[in-house]
Amino acid sequence: MAEAPFGLLAELTHRCPLQCGYCSNPLELVRRDAELDTAEWCSVFDQAHALGVLQFHLSGGEPLARRDLPELVSHASGLGAYLNLVTSGLGLTAARLDDLRRRGVDHVQLSVQDADPGNADLIAGVKAFDHKLVAARLIREAGLPLTVNVVLHRMNLDHVGGIIALAERMGADRLELANTQYYGWALRNRAALLPTKEQLRQADLVVAQARARSRMEIVYVIADYHEAHPKPCMYGWGARQLTVAPNGDVLPCPAATVIEHLGIENVRDRPLAEIWYESSAFNAFRGFDWMREPCRSCVRKEIDFGGCRCQAFQLTGDAANTDPVCSLSPERAKVDLVLDTETGPAPLAVRKVAR
Ligand code: SF4
Ligand code: FES
Repeated sequence: MAEAPFGLLAELTHRCPLQCGYCSNPLELVRRDAELDTAEWCSVFDQAHALGVLQFHLSGGEPLARRDLPELVSHASGLGAYLNLVTSGLGLTAARLDDLRRRGVDHVQLSVQDADPGNADLIAGVKAFDHKLVAARLIREAGLPLTVNVVLHRMNLDHVGGIIALAERMGADRLELANTQYYGWALRNRAALLPTKEQLRQADLVVAQARARSRMEIVYVIADYHEAHPKPCMYGWGARQLTVAPNGDVLPCPAATVIEHLGIENVRDRPLAEIWYESSAFNAFRGFDWMREPCRSCVRKEIDFGGCRCQAFQLTGDAANTDPVCSLSPERAKVDLVLDTETGPAPLAVRKVAR
C-alpha cells in the first residue's frame, strides 16, 4: 500500500504573462474555459488535506492570473496547510501581496530568468526583469520568506555568478539553480537550451564557491543529460507528491501527460484518494516490481528509482525502460547523440499563451 502524499502541486491555470522557452508545461495548454472553478479547487484542497497533504504549492502558469486566488488561499490556509505561492511576480502589487499574506500565504517562490536585464527579457519573451526587482522588494517588505528560482540553460549559464549576486541583493533566503529538465516546451527547444560541457564545468565551480561563502541556501539541480546517473525523479513515482492540472487531471508528476496510455484520471470523475491509491496511472511505476534490467538488479535502484519515467518514454518510447541518461542503459547512445548534435546555434520557440 502506498503512503500518503506529502505535497500537492496545484497548477491553478496555464495562463501566464511570460513565454519562457524552457517551460515544462505541455505543448497543448489547458484553456481558461476548461479550468477547475473556485468550488472545484476548494474541493481538491479538502480532499488533499483529508489524504494527508501538508504542503500546497499554488502554481501555474501564473497563479496571480486567477481572480479567485484570494479565496483559494483563504480556503487552503483554513485547512492548516503550508502555502507556497509560485509566481513570476508579474501582477504582484503591495496591496495584493498584503492581502494574500493575511489570508495565509507562508512563502513565495519567485522566478528569475537572468541577472542581465536584456537577456532576462529575451528569455521571458516579454519585458519582465524590472517587475522581478519590484516583486522581490515587496515580498521582503511583507516579511515573507523568499526563494528565487532560476532555470539554467545555454542562454544564461555563463551568468551564474551574477545570478547568485542578484539573488543576494534581492534578499533571497534560498536560491534554486535548476538546470533545465527537458519536458514540454523545453524539450521542443532543447537544441537552443542544451548547455555545453565547458559551460557546466565553469558553472559548477562558481556555484561551489558561492555555496561555501553565501548566507543563502543554494540548491543546484544537475543537468542530467551530462551525468552518468539519472536524477531520482519525484523521489519515486506516486511516492510523495501529486499534481493537479488546471483541468483537474491528477498526475503522478507534472510532465506525466507525455506518457501515452497512462490512463490519467480527473478529479471531476473520481475522488482524489481513490486516484492516489487505486488508479492504474499512479500504480504503474510504484515500488520496484515494474523494473526491467539493468535497474532490477542494480544497487542504485533505491537511490534513483531508475530515473525518470517521462524521460524514458520521451527518448526510448517505453516508460518502463531505464532512463537513457544512465550510463548502464542500453540506450544511452541516444543521449550522447543529442549532446553531440544539439549544442550549436538554434532558434528558440516562445511558449504559446493559454487563453
Ligand atoms: Fe539507476 Fe537503473 Fe541506472 Fe541502476 S541501472 S543506476 S537503478 S537508472
Ligand atoms: Fe515525470 Fe520524471 S518528469 S517521472
